[in-house]
Amino acid sequence: MKTPTAADIRELFLRFFEEHGHHRAPSSSLVPQNDPTLLFTNAGMVQFKDVFTGREKRDYTRATTAQKCVRAGGKHNDLENVGFTARHHTFFEMMGNFSFGDYFKQDAIAWAWELVTSPRWLGIPKDRLAATVFAGEGTIPWDAEAYGFWKAQGVPEARIHKLGAKDNFWAMGDTGPCGPCSELHYFQGNDIPCAEEKAGRKCLGVACDCDRWLEIWNLVFMQFERSADGGLTPLPKPSIDTGAGLERLAAVVQGKRSNYDTDLFQKIIAAVAELAGKPYGRDEDDSVSMRVIADHARATTFLVGDGVLPSNEGRGYVLRRIMRRAIRHGKRLGLERPFLADVCRVVIGEMGAAYPEIRENEPFITTVAQQEEESFRRTLDKGLAILEAEMRKLAAPDAVAVGKPATSAPAKDGRPVIDGKVAFQLYDTFGFPLDLTRVIAAERGFDVDEQGFDRNMAEQRARSEWKGSGEEAVGDLHKAIAGELGEVKFLGYEVTKATAEVKALIANGARAAKAGKGDRVEVIAAATPFYGESGGQVGDVGTITGPGGLRIRVDDAQRPVPGLITHVGEVLEGELAVGDRVELAVDERRRDLVRANHSATHLLQFALREALGEHVKQAGSVVAPDYLRFDFSHFQPLTAEQLNTVERRVNELVRENVETETAVLELEKARQVGAMMIFGEKYGDVVRVVRIGPSKELCGGTHVRRTGDIAYFKIASEESIAAGVRRVVALTGPKAVEAAQREADELRQAAALLKAGALEVAQKIEQSQRRTKELERALEDAKSRIAAAQSGDLAAQAKEIGGAKVLAVKVQGDGKALRELADKLRDRLGKGVVALGAEHDGKAILLVAVTKDLTGKLKAGDLVKQAAKLVGGSGGGKPDLAQAGGSDPSGLERALAKVEELAGRALE
Ligand code: ALA
Repeated sequence: MKTPTAADIRELFLRFFEEHGHHRAPSSSLVPQNDPTLLFTNAGMVQFKDVFTGREKRDYTRATTAQKCVRAGGKHNDLENVGFTARHHTFFEMMGNFSFGDYFKQDAIAWAWELVTSPRWLGIPKDRLAATVFAGEGTIPWDAEAYGFWKAQGVPEARIHKLGAKDNFWAMGDTGPCGPCSELHYFQGNDIPCAEEKAGRKCLGVACDCDRWLEIWNLVFMQFERSADGGLTPLPKPSIDTGAGLERLAAVVQGKRSNYDTDLFQKIIAAVAELAGKPYGRDEDDSVSMRVIADHARATTFLVGDGVLPSNEGRGYVLRRIMRRAIRHGKRLGLERPFLADVCRVVIGEMGAAYPEIRENEPFITTVAQQEEESFRRTLDKGLAILEAEMRKLAAPDAVAVGKPATSAPAKDGRPVIDGKVAFQLYDTFGFPLDLTRVIAAERGFDVDEQGFDRNMAEQRARSEWKGSGEEAVGDLHKAIAGELGEVKFLGYEVTKATAEVKALIANGARAAKAGKGDRVEVIAAATPFYGESGGQVGDVGTITGPGGLRIRVDDAQRPVPGLITHVGEVLEGELAVGDRVELAVDERRRDLVRANHSATHLLQFALREALGEHVKQAGSVVAPDYLRFDFSHFQPLTAEQLNTVERRVNELVRENVETETAVLELEKARQVGAMMIFGEKYGDVVRVVRIGPSKELCGGTHVRRTGDIAYFKIASEESIAAGVRRVVALTGPKAVEAAQREADELRQAAALLKAGALEVAQKIEQSQRRTKELERALEDAKSRIAAAQSGDLAAQAKEIGGAKVLAVKVQGDGKALRELADKLRDRLGKGVVALGAEHDGKAILLVAVTKDLTGKLKAGDLVKQAAKLVGGSGGGKPDLAQAGGSDPSGLERALAKVEELAGRALE
């Protein structure tokens, strides 16, 4: 039989469980939705977290997935090991089957055994397999059941091992569903090196860190939910969550000792080897680098494909570290030009069939990779320059003589030591790992203060620790209501008024059966025309009326969990009870404005892609009644011409007055017709496709009937909001007209002031600016001519004392003018003392200048200090020039006389 490829294995796994009644669900995004506790999706169960706890309902109770996972940063972090071992990855695929209160241990074990061992499926030899079960710890007893079920499959007792919580109790994170688990291990052979044995101890078998016994599948028996205080609450129903790394399964089935030797990695590694012009497997350092690049290019492709962008915090920071690690290993391999985008292209070629989202986002992914690499390569060069400068500084003899700051370590064996802080800065800002700095330093006869480096690193860790995405966890109250009621029917595509029964009520923050006048309420009805805020579109506002004069002002409609729409507002009159039939009426005028802005957002996205390229993807949007905001991936500011082109194109489509068409399709079908999807958006199996002229998007929002309803589209601003993300704010209909009129008014006013026509404004302003500059120059000129003349006159007033000249006069001007004048006078006097006083802004200024040849006898600073007292101030300065300020200008004459007197005395 032909050896199965990884793609074959992925398909076999999913098909096996489909044949056993499981729903094949698509992988969820690597960015967890609605989960502030997780950095990245790190297991197949993440998208089902709320289903296990009963907060969310699906229309199936068994599922199977191939899930994209990243373990880098956060609880399960493998980054630093990648490349050096046969197994560690940042990105990997987890195959899994799930039961939500449906089957439990017995079936999970039987099916795992069948899929792994049956020749019809994976056909792994039974005599190479062992199982582990939970040995019991704390209040949770040992798993005798699982033990029995493995035995029933024919696994010999000697091959069923009991292990503690460290190995056999699985939790997603510090909180969330968890439970005892049971693993299947595959025996690779005793010739595999074992660190225990090397240290003279016995290999620990299935519990050992070595790869002799390789864990290939983890079956978690979900039974508890762990809360933030560590307490365990039983789940509503015991459930199943399993995870088998596809990379490992492929290695075992394909008879490879390293995941990197499977077909999942071979083409990628071959591409790296070809770029580097070196074979894989000859030199170990080179091979490590090739594996690192292959792994990290996969993580880069999938993370960027899910909308994560390299940045300096949170998820973006982890991605940036992954990308930079790959780039450095590329440099180590001698790749002097950017290569990461090329490798990402190979990854997309290999994986695009199983994960169409990366194929759709190819231009975006490769552009991000290219840009990050170009900028990082520039940074690396800068880092090298800093290291060079540091070493030059340390090598300079006077640097050693002067001594280094107390924080740095003393020189070892007489070798100068590079400060740990510098080494850390190189690591943190410039991506230099410590070993790189150490190697470069050692080559030049330097040491590195590694303790200092570690200290800085620890501080940085504390700073950048993942504290959650900041996104709020969805309220349990809403989840419970959604679980009870199922989906609220949305009627708002067709109507803006409807009658429906009230199904649940939250009054002043708690579940209630009734609410009365003055209560803040959330009303949940069986159906509603109100659009609950989602997909960037704001919620509708309006009124709810009902029997007995009930009137509720609805300030907002929300969609706190999928399928649930709540009306948030205040009871103005009457009473409301669960079970009442009420009239729900949306504010239509506002809704029409929202519709126009939403449809215009679609047209804007279309026009941007047409004008700028396919890398443009939505990265966020707000659709409100008075404006729309659209964030998208793009790397430069838009030129005025591009903005005009986009605006013109949207208005062209508005004038074509095409009809909006919507269709509800299966997700796969929607992909095939080329509908635009949004990063990280969680789509169901069935989606709504909105087609407006040439634009096709998956969207649940409300739209205009015909594009003519938008009336007029106008871009208000364009700016950058993050690296590679731009934001356009635009207006439609009445708001756009208003804005255009405001601008025209403004222009008319400006024109009137300039006494010009509206279209000559820019030209006139330019002329006027030129004229102002000319006048400023002329003024400066005149001032200095006056100053020169004044200084001539003043110099003549100087008194001759003891062979020097003393001049003390009151003048006009500010501090700067006084300094300039004093300079000139000093030059003219040749040898002497100049004291100037002026009143400026109601304050006194005093300035004393002494020619250099006299500073031995009298000092400007001393003179000014004495004189300043007479103007109620203080001051000082250098021996040849000093200045003072005071609050009392009336004392200026006396102050000047004082200087003259003191100078006279000193010079006689
Ligand atoms: N969620 C379990 C794991 O990741 C299956 O190992």
